[in-house]
Amino acid sequence: MKRPDGELKDRKDDGRDRRVFVTRPIAEPAIRRLAAMARVDLWDDEMPPPPDELRARARQADGVLSMVTDRFDAAMIRALPRLRAISNLAVGVDNIDLAAATRAGIAVGHTPGILTETTADLAFGLLMAAARRIAEGDRYVRGGRWRTWGPKVMLGRDIHGATLGIIGWGAIGQAMARRGAGFGMRVLYLPGRHAARPVRRRRPRASANTDPAAAEPTSLERLLAESDFVSLHVPLTATTHHQIGETEFAMMKRTAILVNTSRGAIVDPQALVGALRAGRLAGAGLDVTDPEPPDANDPLLKLPNVVITPHIGSASHATRLKMAELAVDNLIDVFEGRRPRNCANPAVRMR
Ligand code: DGY
Repeated sequence: MKRPDGELKDRKDDGRDRRVFVTRPIAEPAIRRLAAMARVDLWDDEMPPPPDELRARARQADGVLSMVTDRFDAAMIRALPRLRAISNLAVGVDNIDLAAATRAGIAVGHTPGILTETTADLAFGLLMAAARRIAEGDRYVRGGRWRTWGPKVMLGRDIHGATLGIIGWGAIGQAMARRGAGFGMRVLYLPGRHAARPVRRRRPRASANTDPAAAEPTSLERLLAESDFVSLHVPLTATTHHQIGETEFAMMKRTAILVNTSRGAIVDPQALVGALRAGRLAGAGLDVTDPEPPDANDPLLKLPNVVITPHIGSASHATRLKMAELAVDNLIDVFEGRRPRNCANPAVRMR
């Protein structure tokens, strides 16, 4: 078949010249499995390929195994007439213009499910770190300021008995709710488009206490007004962009702590700094920022009541291996003529 850009493409994929661009080193067993199916072009660097390099390499490829840091906007997608699949090593796909990929016949794979518990672990860890000033306490000790036990030293906030408000009732939001219930918290959540049904867990837990069904659905207003901790678990879309800004901070308790393990841009960064500086918000536990990484002069980095980790929600050895394997499975599905088993654009009519 003659393509508009003059390249020839054999519709039947016999795998003889199949190429995959992998944009960062991933778990080796997954790479080996991919190498058995395709010629692998691996970007072997800690930093992502710059956009020009991404375009040049993806242009030669039938599939790309991409990271959240690789931006596939409409212009980039138009420049990739050979590409059949983008397989993102992430559950989030906000780095990819899904509508453009669908129009172009490119299937987009992602890795939901397997990173749920690991990400909720980190979200709860950030909640605890911010509430009990763990990172700040560590800096205090290392900085030589720990002189004695003191009745007023490093006082924090109780987690047990507090109210946890969850925005985004998908798999990770519900996993966070189970952790909150396990710590004796009251859990409120905002039901939403991304969380219509309770997510079924594979293995039932022993205690009914940890059932997210014990959580109470409520309005955004009530959630913000009553929660001691507000944790964000929505995907980044045009609707959720800056979903938490000045108005929302004004509705929260002055003693509240915000936890964000989703995407930085769900929170208006200026409003966040303003609320923290003005004492309208007691603290924040952030695994994501906008931009990433934050600029060296970002005021967030100067605030002692903020704990920041470098977007490591899913970063356990076991989970990153599962993500790599699933990202490869998604590509193999396409090479074998099927939609990826975890397809972010199921309406796609594949090239
Ligand atoms: C995701 O899965 O979307 C994370 O942000 C990257 O692990």
